[in-house]
Amino acid sequence: MALLEIRDLTVDFDGPRRIRAVDHVDLSVERESCVAIVGESGSGKSQLLLACTGLLAANGRASGSVRFDGLELLGADDPAARIRGSGIGFVFQDASGSLTPHRRIGDQLAEAAVAARGITRQAALAEAERMLERVRLPQAHRHLAEYPHELSGGMRQRAAIAAALISEPMLLFADEPTTALDVTVQAEIITLLVDLCHELGMAMLIVTHDFGVVSGLADRIAVMYAGRIVESAPAARLLAGPGHPYSAGLLAAVPRLDDPPGTELRTIRGTPPRPGANLPGCRFEPRCEYARAHCRGEDPPFLTTGDDGIACHYPLKQDAQ
Ligand SMILES: Nc1ncnc2c1ncn2[C@@H]1O[C@H](COP(=O)(O)OP(=O)(O)O)[C@@H](O)[C@H]1O
Ligand SMILES: [Mg+2]
Repeated sequence: MALLEIRDLTVDFDGPRRIRAVDHVDLSVERESCVAIVGESGSGKSQLLLACTGLLAANGRASGSVRFDGLELLGADDPAARIRGSGIGFVFQDASGSLTPHRRIGDQLAEAAVAARGITRQAALAEAERMLERVRLPQAHRHLAEYPHELSGGMRQRAAIAAALISEPMLLFADEPTTALDVTVQAEIITLLVDLCHELGMAMLIVTHDFGVVSGLADRIAVMYAGRIVESAPAARLLAGPGHPYSAGLLAAVPRLDDPPGTELRTIRGTPPRPGANLPGCRFEPRCEYARAHCRGEDPPFLTTGDDGIACHYPLKQDAQ
């Protein structure tokens, strides 16, 4: 059994009109493995993570099943306690979701350690310092007394990761952990996350809109579009030869070091469908350069073969064969 098993997860938001942010998603994360969810902004990545941990906004509803280490997480009464108890650490997309601005870093980390592990405050403060060292924050002791705004963006993200790790989770949710950072710091944070997973025997579910982030990091990649997983495969396979035109489009939009100077980045034409839009066919069809008439009429089912899965009537690999 996988460490995390998401089955048929659907997230709806109530409002003037109903918005379906996550649409019948299946996803598994094996122990000590790293799965990346990649997709443009608005595809439902954050809501998927929030639904798993019971942290949806008040107008949101999740259905389906999310089993973590065999335990059902959907519908738990006290989401915060459930995450702590279940061993999932969360680095939020917005760092302020991970760290409270008006409280000292040391106090925040220590409090989390007391709550999760039932240790004394004294022991928790020592643990907080150890955790800041673990995320390679130089002069960890000094930072215990600081407020989040006193740290640089990269250091603050390290502190947010430390806050997520202090309960010794088996699984880390990392929602766009490098988006707000400049490129060199991004690379450092990714390296740190990979190292921490190995050191702590931890699994990770990382969410990003940038394919550049996932190579060398993820064992599996799931590509998400308009609330659905449209392709899922071992990372090396997907990076070498994406089957879904959407995955291929996202990959082509990543700048490469070996591009000649002045190379123009390719972008996917058009924009994702309006959330809640009712399209009869493939949701990517209006933007797909390979679309045929059939794509407009019939929604492609998600079909799996061995380790790979894809929802596309005319996957790219098929064309190449
Ligand atoms: N509280 C809410 N009420 C209504 N719609 C929401 C709410 N929160 C998120 N959404 C919608 O859910 C969709 C998916 O959002 P999100 O998961 O944050 O995207 P991503 O993380 O992939 O950028 C978006 O269309 C967003 O507007
Ligand atoms: Mg998001």
